[in-house]
Amino acid sequence: MSTREALARDLTLARDRTMRLVEIDDAELLRQYDPLMSPLVWDLAHIGWQEEMWLLRGNDPRRPGLLSTDVERLYDAFEHSRASRAALPLLPPGDARAFCDTVRAKSLDALDVLPEEDGTGVDPAFVFGLVVSHENQHDETMLQALSLRSGPPILGTGTPLPPGRAGVAGTSVLVPGGPFVLGVTAAEEPMSLDNERDAHVVDVASFRIGRVPVTNGEWREFIADGGYREPRWWSARGWEHRQQADLVAPKFWSARADTRTRFGHVEDIPADEPVQHVTYFEAEAYAAWAGARLPTEMEWEKACAWDPATGSRRRFPWGASEPTAALANLGGEALRPAPVGAYPAGASAYGVEQLLGDVWEWTSSPLRPWPGFTPMLYEQYSQPFFDGDYKILRGGAWSVAPSILRPSFRNWDHPIRRQIFSGLRLAWDA
Ligand code: AVJ
Ligand code: FE
Repeated sequence: MSTREALARDLTLARDRTMRLVEIDDAELLRQYDPLMSPLVWDLAHIGWQEEMWLLRGNDPRRPGLLSTDVERLYDAFEHSRASRAALPLLPPGDARAFCDTVRAKSLDALDVLPEEDGTGVDPAFVFGLVVSHENQHDETMLQALSLRSGPPILGTGTPLPPGRAGVAGTSVLVPGGPFVLGVTAAEEPMSLDNERDAHVVDVASFRIGRVPVTNGEWREFIADGGYREPRWWSARGWEHRQQADLVAPKFWSARADTRTRFGHVEDIPADEPVQHVTYFEAEAYAAWAGARLPTEMEWEKACAWDPATGSRRRFPWGASEPTAALANLGGEALRPAPVGAYPAGASAYGVEQLLGDVWEWTSSPLRPWPGFTPMLYEQYSQPFFDGDYKILRGGAWSVAPSILRPSFRNWDHPIRRQIFSGLRLAWDA
């Protein structure tokens, strides 16, 4: 498949996904489910506006667009906090859809005449990849909003997943010390985002890492052992937040830690499923209680991508082939993580499983640029956040589109956030 065909496919997959998520009545689209999230109709028009800006207006706001200047400013994420967006005079859902449709038709026309890379180092296809990544990331954001929605469910319980394997929870793998290549080059990963570049050698001391993410069953033991009541497992900041937010279990769990609410469905908590909806602070406390720590993002990426036999990176943990339903739980249709042990064929060279998909994994690393960082066309994607209070999450959750995910993909959030599909994997010095 040519780059152009792959981009047309990925644009269409992203748009189909967006349209399924907003297949609800106008009143729902205008509702704000939680102050942490935008009304879905904001995400919808924002997707179209960024696409128009990057692909059709050459990222130059002085070039006229389809919306008036006053209207388009409503969709600038830096101008309006999420909490304030429901009160803005947003485009009605019908107008937002029509706007997105018009922009997309023009984008597909532009893709038809996409020039080849001309040797100037600017890859014309990259902007399309950015649009695909951005739309899919907002689809995940919309899933977070829907998970916070009260009332009778509007989403189902998700598509089937492979069964787990006994005996993998709580086990770990040794990753011997030594240098590896962290990050990727534009040549090897043309669609990689600015914060994933450039490739550079990093020496990592020997460590052990969990073969699979921490499960609900393991988390329940932490609760039963008084983990949420013992300040000694928590950092000072973490304990302060635990007190102030009165955390006693992962978000969406019942007080007795036996049932959870998932997209409005109340169900038993599956013991062998990776825990999700925990803050960084809870993850840190769990790790301390378990006699472990969180991995750094460098350790995580080495365990995921490095092949010690060849001394080179793999494109995916399992090798060069694209993700499939047999290798990882991605794409957003399952609406939940798969049980641990569900993807033995997706293991990395070191034998670490479920690195891509299932849950975002908190790491102990703050968001910082790699050496020589250069912002991409969307300059505000990473740079404004480098000096903020953010922790890196790795691996992507069940909610992430396979076409935008790589072992080098870096996500970040505030350490107190847990409406995101966040879990953890343990690590130990070795
Ligand atoms: C990379 C997921 C932290 O949602 O804030 C979307 C992605 N940036 N539009 C976010 C993003 C601009 C970003 N994260
Ligand atoms: Fe955005």
